[in-house]
Amino acid sequence: MNTLTFEPVRTAEQIKEMTDLAAIIWHQHFRTILSEGQIDYMVDKFQSAHAVAEQLANQGYQYFMLRLDDRLIGFIGVVEQPEEKKLFLSKLYIEKSFRGRGYASRAFAFLAKLCREKGYTAVWLTVNRFNYDTIAIYERKGFQTVRTQIADIGQGYVMDDYVMEADVEAMAGWK
Ligand SMILES: CC(C)(COP(=O)(O)OP(=O)(O)OC[C@H]1O[C@@H](n2cnc3c(N)ncnc32)[C@H](O)[C@@H]1OP(=O)(O)O)[C@@H](O)C(=O)NCCC(=O)NCCS
Repeated sequence: MNTLTFEPVRTAEQIKEMTDLAAIIWHQHFRTILSEGQIDYMVDKFQSAHAVAEQLANQGYQYFMLRLDDRLIGFIGVVEQPEEKKLFLSKLYIEKSFRGRGYASRAFAFLAKLCREKGYTAVWLTVNRFNYDTIAIYERKGFQTVRTQIADIGQGYVMDDYVMEADVEAMAGWK
């Protein structure tokens, strides 16, 4: 039996390990959705070691690496919003060869437990409007589209997203 753990990311070594995986997943997955130039730009701006270190230090982010025994198979990044009683799920990535085996659902269960402990009632996220398979997975986990959002991220690039939100109980399959 393999054991899945959620390892909090704190050290420079962990950040490097996680952001190396992020770069691989981004280049594999978003090549049919975004230009190579935009992927490079977004990886540097949001998922490079220096960007993640800044998010952890000053932007309220928490990252957890998913480890299957010793192997890094994915990661999640969240921001708690206690005033709104919500959790922002900023990052959710599973390495390609480990997809479709329920590990994202395990991550949603982990987040639901965190929300229940803290009294948060909803989880929200943004997803590229053309990231169809992922949107279908989010819908399966109880997320509904709240609105569309086009965000200018500089250098002529935009993020063309849906904002989606789920009731925690529905996301966890508790109701
Ligand atoms: C999105 C992602 C994290 C999902 O991980 P995964 O390991 O493939 O997901 P799981 O196997 O845990 O499946 C999650 C749920 O979706 C369901 N599901 C899987 N594929 C589905 C599909 N095409 N349509 C509908 N539901 C689907 C599963 O049955 C499971 O539901 P259940 O546990 O309630 O039965 C992963 O595909 C990924 O990293 N994608 C590329 C990067 C990305 O788009 N990240 C998100 C950026 S916003």
